[in-house]
Amino acid sequence: MSALRLPEDVMRALGHRGVDLLVEHFARLADDPVSGVKYAPPREWEEVPRAAAPDPLAVLEETCRMLRHGNAHPDHPRFLAFVPSPGNFVSVLAAALATGFAVPGGHRLTGPASADVELTTVRWLVELLGLPPGSGGLFVPGGSMANLTALTVARDRRGPGTAYFSDQTHFSVPRALHVLGVGADRVRRLPSDGAQRLDVDALASAVRRDRRRGLRPFVVVANAGTTSTGAVDPLPRLAEFCRAEGIWLHVDGAFGAAAALTDAGRTLLDGLGLADSWTVDPHKWLFQPAESGCVLLRRPHELRESFGVDLPGYLDNSAAGDGDFLQYGIQLTREFRALRLWLSLKVFGADAFRDAVARGMRNAEEAGRFIDAEPGLELVTAPSLAVLTFRCAGADADRVCRRLATEGYALVMPTTVAGERVLRLCTINPRTSAGELRRIVTRVRELSLDATA
Ligand SMILES: Cc1ncc(COP(=O)(O)O)c(C=O)c1O
Repeated sequence: MSALRLPEDVMRALGHRGVDLLVEHFARLADDPVSGVKYAPPREWEEVPRAAAPDPLAVLEETCRMLRHGNAHPDHPRFLAFVPSPGNFVSVLAAALATGFAVPGGHRLTGPASADVELTTVRWLVELLGLPPGSGGLFVPGGSMANLTALTVARDRRGPGTAYFSDQTHFSVPRALHVLGVGADRVRRLPSDGAQRLDVDALASAVRRDRRRGLRPFVVVANAGTTSTGAVDPLPRLAEFCRAEGIWLHVDGAFGAAAALTDAGRTLLDGLGLADSWTVDPHKWLFQPAESGCVLLRRPHELRESFGVDLPGYLDNSAAGDGDFLQYGIQLTREFRALRLWLSLKVFGADAFRDAVARGMRNAEEAGRFIDAEPGLELVTAPSLAVLTFRCAGADADRVCRRLATEGYALVMPTTVAGERVLRLCTINPRTSAGELRRIVTRVRELSLDATA
């Protein structure tokens, strides 16, 4: 095995077995527990493996056992915690192929086809989400990087100054501002209204106050689906306010923007297209594997104005046009992430994606009905996009979730709504059945009775 090569027959044997194990994962995941992970790294990991393994297949099998049983799986149909990542086999294959063929993902000179695939996929995404034609951007590792990228452009165009968002906003937003050097004294985390939305009147007062102090408001971050309750900020009013004030409007749709694929979602996300920039996370509700994030701008050339650099001689002349993503974002060497969404859209078709998103929304409605019908359980926030929260009379939500996780059937996590600890379901996995949701709700009720006893 000199020069890190394997004989062809060994590569094939490893590859075929690896694909078989992945197919088993996709076909039979629902039969496995979702959590209850008990795992300790083996002693042998303490030493660097110096010599070649006598049986590479055995190493692969052992590794897959660790991957399978040593972790919870965010693509499991009963993983209803956080924002799940219900991927798909085609995109997993695309990720392996892009890596295997060593496709350059940032440079038109060396990757003309990958540049065109990424530009095309971004254009498809803009159209599917109903964003203004001509909007564009690039794939990034995830929502946190998309927020950082968009906020950098906002700062460059309208700042530096003060930033505004509701207290329901994902922590990646204040973290991005911190990275950008926007100090805590210039960050306004505003109390949300009774429906967990950014209060436009409170925002207007904060902006007025800051202007009187001589500060310069530069960005409002709105949510198209908060992580905690799926709340959607009042996008049309925010857009009108920001336009009048000359403030950049960034919409964090990492989780929720995908709902715009459906008619019902597009109504809920009215005004989505009015922003200056958007975060979309295909590794959430567009069924891609981690890390598949995307940042989109109404005027994509502004990315280049923020991130473009004078290239050194060895790169000169090669980074001049569309698809030279090294000039449009933070990364130079990049994975070819766009291939995942591109290949899965081509294989399944966009209608299948729309139906899968709609299914996640229906699942939340269905779970809401099960909760309503279960004595002792009560909705705290109604299904919004595909998130709902509920309480169990008299029971400790954290304790119920911990008990559920220990049993391994479903992973449900609590959240805090208006100061109260409540249970939360995020139902975006289209493979979650109504029967599973009913069983989870029933079990929560049983555990809550047990916990109050
Ligand atoms: C609304 C929202 N924004 C941003 C993020 C961060 O995304 P990522 O984990 O891909 O960095 C998340 C993650 O759950 C999210 O829900």
